[in-house]
Amino acid sequence: MIPLVGCSIKQDQGQSVLDVIHSRKSVRAYTDQPVSPEQVETLLKAAMAAPSGRNLQAWRFVVVREQSVKEKLAVGFNKMIAKAPVVIVVCGNTINPQGKFNGNWTADCAAATENLLLAAEAIGLGAVWTACYPYEERMNPAIEALGLPDDITPYCIVPIGYPGGDEKPKDKWKPENIHYDRW
Ligand SMILES: Cc1cc2nc3c(=O)[nH]c(=O)nc-3n(C[C@H](O)[C@H](O)[C@H](O)COP(=O)(O)O)c2cc1C
Repeated sequence: MIPLVGCSIKQDQGQSVLDVIHSRKSVRAYTDQPVSPEQVETLLKAAMAAPSGRNLQAWRFVVVREQSVKEKLAVGFNKMIAKAPVVIVVCGNTINPQGKFNGNWTADCAAATENLLLAAEAIGLGAVWTACYPYEERMNPAIEALGLPDDITPYCIVPIGYPGGDEKPKDKWKPENIHYDRW
């Protein structure tokens, strides 16, 4: 990246964050190149840096490398889950410390998932968010395969690997989706 003349280091870093945001794309085919535990930790650190309702950090993560478990997660159209070197299942703790339902659990998990996807893009990996919650036919196999306790719900499944194809980011900029001051 070309440093911006007259910008502080922080602004330069801000520009690279924008580069990553705009180059992220869903990647559904992977090479056999392994993804290291250190890379997975980088992704999880980014995920856990996400904003969180009341800072309850409702997210939980299951890192899956075992082939038989990946195959149980690869239901419906999402067969690529079984072919990724590593899969991260983003789960939510639906109960807050007072024992009540945490209505922010899905938002926490979504924010963590997007951070994880951006971190993957930033380190040259490819990944895709595949929905789990609220589809019972996807959640039940995940609950079973991972042995999740009752208060933990599988939110989404993210297969990760080095990109095996040539996916390009999509242009989603639509000014007509923006309103100013009033609808
Ligand atoms: C809530 C949500 C659920 C998704 N579920 C799936 C899925 O089950 N399978 C899949 O292949 N992609 C899934 N995606 C990825 C979308 O298809 C993808 O983000 C969209 O087509 C835009 O493409 P892009 O990510 O390359 O910008 C999901 C994305 C989101 C945000």
